[in-house]
Amino acid sequence: MSGRVVAIDGPAASGKSTTARLVAERLGHLYLDTGAMYRAITWKALQEGTDLTDEEALGRLAASTDLDLAHGAEGTRVVVDDRDVTGEIRDPEISRTVSLVARVPAVRREMVRLQRGVGQRGDVVVEGRDIGTVVFPDAEVKVFLVASLKERARRRSRELASEGVVVPVEELMDQIRKRDALDSDRLDSPLCRAEDAVPLDTTKMTIEEQVLAVVEIVRQRREAESGTSNG
Ligand code: CDP
Ligand code: CDP
Repeated sequence: MSGRVVAIDGPAASGKSTTARLVAERLGHLYLDTGAMYRAITWKALQEGTDLTDEEALGRLAASTDLDLAHGAEGTRVVVDDRDVTGEIRDPEISRTVSLVARVPAVRREMVRLQRGVGQRGDVVVEGRDIGTVVFPDAEVKVFLVASLKERARRRSRELASEGVVVPVEELMDQIRKRDALDSDRLDSPLCRAEDAVPLDTTKMTIEEQVLAVVEIVRQRREAESGTSNG
């Protein structure tokens, strides 16, 4: 039997990962970071020197990769063919190239199959770009996070600074804008808000406020649902 799905989609650095992880913790649900899966396949493609314009080769690579996402106290560990690549998949080179891999239909088919498999294991909070539209169109709750480009670039900048990497906000704005455009303009499962997704603008929100807002949306949906089924 499949579990309930809370789908969180949105553009880069809108707060999906932090929100989804904490909402999952509060609701006692599983958590799935689908962006990490596309990053992991991209990592392997770069490792193997696969031509990122060769769709057939990328499809074969995705189908033959053993991809494991282990959720522990310190977050998600991403393991590709028995190698832990949790840190490496956040490299700027992966961020620059991941959208080229993610636009390939054969890669997406394989990732979606794995993602739906997780949905069979229990209640889950899933974050990505096409969760409410394609992966789980019947999700119990759908939220679409947005935030201004400048605020998202500032967040990334702070994140990188905490790792000792200094990148000007303008440069990050440019990178984020390009990645969002590639993700929104692709033919297969583009980034877009599902008609029935609740939009949430996080520009002026703290992480805690975002988490509370999503938990509240879930609570209201469940209350409305139990009211309907009781009467
Ligand atoms: O965390 P950040 O917003 O930087 O990106 P991510 O969630 O790690 O996703 C990395 C990339 O994977 C995105 O830019 C998309 O190209 C792709 N992706 C996708 O196509 N579909 C998803 N469901 C999740 C990610
Ligand atoms: O997953 P996505 O790329 O949408 O965003 P994220 O990784 O959850 O958030 C990007 C960065 O912004 C992280 O370092 C968050 O801690 C930070 N953030 C923030 O400072 N304030 C918020 N309201 C949301 C996220």
